[in-house]
Amino acid sequence: MIDPAQLQQTLNLLEDAFGKDLQALRGAQELDALRAKYLGRKSVVAEHLKRLPELPPDQRGLVGKALNTLKESFEARLTARQHAFRTQPVASALDVTLPGSAVPRGRLHPITQTMEAILSLFVPMGFEIIEGPELEYEWYNFDALNIPASHPSRESFDTFFVDSRSPEPRRGRLLLRSHTSPVQVRVMQRRKPPLRILVPGAVFRPDPLDASHSFMFHQVEGLVVDERANFSDLKGTLTAFVERFFGPATKVRFRPHFFPFTEPSAEVDIACTACRGQGCSTCGRKGWLEILGCGMVHPNVFKAAGYDAVKVQGFAFGMGVERIAMLKYGITDIRLFFENDLRFLEQF
Ligand code: PHE
Repeated sequence: MIDPAQLQQTLNLLEDAFGKDLQALRGAQELDALRAKYLGRKSVVAEHLKRLPELPPDQRGLVGKALNTLKESFEARLTARQHAFRTQPVASALDVTLPGSAVPRGRLHPITQTMEAILSLFVPMGFEIIEGPELEYEWYNFDALNIPASHPSRESFDTFFVDSRSPEPRRGRLLLRSHTSPVQVRVMQRRKPPLRILVPGAVFRPDPLDASHSFMFHQVEGLVVDERANFSDLKGTLTAFVERFFGPATKVRFRPHFFPFTEPSAEVDIACTACRGQGCSTCGRKGWLEILGCGMVHPNVFKAAGYDAVKVQGFAFGMGVERIAMLKYGITDIRLFFENDLRFLEQF
């Protein structure tokens, strides 16, 4: 015999428990467990339904109806909850008063920044930016630049050679360019003067890695060719660059030097950025720091490129970007640029 009042109480308790469990749900994944617990084959509702035939016929309808009503109510509430999870997945977990989690911002590498800063000072002076290949032929890297095979200065441009040689004339062995100067020749071969170009790019030299040497670094090359560009234009252009890049009061000097591809040649020094010319360990007590090489383009370079060396003249310069960045920011170890340590990179 079933006492209808007792059954109703059991079902009420069951409904209360279901309500609490439903409240406590934290995610859609937990819905299935709850469904099994209250509606599955072993649930209280299912057990009671199974035992309906044991009841006297006049009670079966009443009890069956009560159980089915409860079952339908559970199903409806589970479905509603499932829908709520799907349409508002984070609504209950979102606390708008919490501080946001910052997304770390990327930035350009200090060498890229320095490169762009250098280029942006020359562009208003009428220079255009041109790039050339990193994998270069011996002829462009050396011969066309007036550095013949036997010339001892080849050794000062120590080079990574690639195990390949072109059968064509004016090519020779393949190599990783040891400076950006070969692009001077490539551009002159395909364009007529006047020219005013800048060539940024990576260069390679088999130097053992230390605080001031890397087997790969970057240069910015400049070349100006027309009928009258002279050494005074060279000095004016590079002095303007130095004063804009390092500050208007920076002292500059042009010191005679030798390069096979320029004559006359010079190296440009600036007053030491660490001691302001007093002499310290950064400048080797000299008070000056070398920042670039330059000179008037050698007639043999014009000839190699197919220009008439009587009709044109011009100047060229080349600077190391890592070196300039180190002087500007007071960095004492070139390896920092290539180690990709965020603690270093984030400072720029
Ligand atoms: N190519 C030279 C170097 O790598 C720099 C340079 C360029 C000097 C142009 C003079 C003229 O050292």
